[in-house]
Amino acid sequence: MENDIIIRPYRPEDRGAVREIAYETSVFGSPGTPDFPDREIMEDFLTRYYTDEEPDSLWIAESGGEAVGYVAGSKDTGRYQDIVSYKKLPEAVFSFISRVDIFNVDIFNKDGWGILFAKFLTWLKGGLDRGEIIKKYPAHLHISIKNGFRGKQLGKRLISKFLEYLKSEGVPGVHAVVHHDNLAARKFFESMGFHPEHSPPAVLYDGNSLQTNSMIIYAKEIK
Ligand SMILES: CC(C)(COP(=O)(O)OP(=O)(O)OC[C@H]1O[C@@H](n2cnc3c(N)ncnc32)[C@H](O)[C@@H]1OP(=O)(O)O)[C@@H](O)C(=O)NCCC(=O)NCCS
Repeated sequence: MENDIIIRPYRPEDRGAVREIAYETSVFGSPGTPDFPDREIMEDFLTRYYTDEEPDSLWIAESGGEAVGYVAGSKDTGRYQDIVSYKKLPEAVFSFISRVDIFNVDIFNKDGWGILFAKFLTWLKGGLDRGEIIKKYPAHLHISIKNGFRGKQLGKRLISKFLEYLKSEGVPGVHAVVHHDNLAARKFFESMGFHPEHSPPAVLYDGNSLQTNSMIIYAKEIK
């Protein structure tokens, strides 16, 4: 069956599938607990840059005409940070405000605030700072395979395609951020020749309390 699955460039009609896979796999390969109160804004945060601003850096694993996994990224994380901060984030917030009745929406419940506050604390602790990393490893990537299609070498095929693409574009290095406790993803990146370069702090909210943990930034030179 693995041989029936093809790796191909992203097409605009994949946008919905990429958003769905990103949401469904956002925390260690599952939707995560608690559920973010507004799914669309979460999908915007996870994928809007990649599908709308840099679709050439997005590759799809397709089985039976359906997208079952993807690798998305940016060749230039500095440019990505600027576009996300000044364009994509405001767009996502504007789309949220124009879509919902903000005085009644559930985003202002305990879980919504918990998730946002955890992100804020992570930023405060310097956990979002990629300053030094992106000098040597300017590209970054996210990879997600749908449940049921994992362990079939699709991740390996997607990363190989992405690395080949970065090499052809003359990009010297790439990094990926993995949660410390995501052992499957850590093994995966190590098997693909990435090494742990840095371990920034991360604050997570699990529906009850905030916990300080860490991320691992895996990096790889492209030769
Ligand atoms: C991590 C992930 C992308 C791996 O993709 P995959 O298609 O299942 O992995 P592959 O079948 O290509 O595996 C390649 C190698 O990675 C390692 N690996 C993959 N999954 C593993 C697991 N669960 N435990 C240990 N090693 C694993 C193995 O060394 C494997 O080689 P082998 O099959 O020869 O033993 C996939 O599990 C996933 O989408 N997880 C959820 C999202 C996520 O955590 N993304 C990473 C953060 S950006």
